[in-house]
Amino acid sequence: MILKNFVVFEGIDGSGTTTQIQKLESRFAAEGKSGLVRFTREPTANEIGRLLRQFLSGKISAHPDTLAFLFAADRNEHLFGRGGIAEETGNGRAVFSDRYLFSSLAYQGESGSPDLPQKLNGDFPLPEYVFFFDLDPETAMQRILARSTLEHTEREIFEETGFQKKVSGKYKSLFASFRQTEPDMHILTIDAALPPEEIAGKIWKTAGILPKFN
Ligand code: TYD
Repeated sequence: MILKNFVVFEGIDGSGTTTQIQKLESRFAAEGKSGLVRFTREPTANEIGRLLRQFLSGKISAHPDTLAFLFAADRNEHLFGRGGIAEETGNGRAVFSDRYLFSSLAYQGESGSPDLPQKLNGDFPLPEYVFFFDLDPETAMQRILARSTLEHTEREIFEETGFQKKVSGKYKSLFASFRQTEPDMHILTIDAALPPEEIAGKIWKTAGILPKFN
């Protein structure tokens, strides 16, 4: 099932989804349309999302499949909890999420049992639009290293070039197959090496007309 007016940004770490979703939020605000849209992310800011961030930082650890279950639980709440994606789109707003189930299919599919993410996420609704940020993993890792130096932040458990290469390959194969099986889900590939303003302009062309009512 496809959830209308639901849009997700996906890509490997360092591909720029967070920068672009922030630019999009500012653009909607500048156009006086903030009331028509909601911006969100996964892992979420709720309890399960906060627990996930501790695993991602390496502060605590677990079997990779345990993370697949937790990401799916966080997502269920994100979708169906109070004020969640289903409620917001149901109220006529467009919802933009920085990451969604494709992150689980790509990351958990590469780090744990390959079929588990599909089993856990197969019944969740699909977004109407996916912006896939395509960036060479070496370039993405340079960005991550520069950012962690600049902001004095620690790298997360998945931020390692060898693993990001696998995730990048997985994203490409899964979007190629979704293009065949889900033609009503629009997958737009973004060349994430382009200048940020150029990328923002391309995204606005599609996203700026949302929410659509029909
Ligand atoms: P990210 O979105 O890059 O946020 P931040 O910039 O705050 O680090 O980090 C989230 C990490 O979680 C990223 O490495 C991808 C990973 N992730 C999964 O492995 N599975 C999932 O289902 C989701 C939503 C994220």
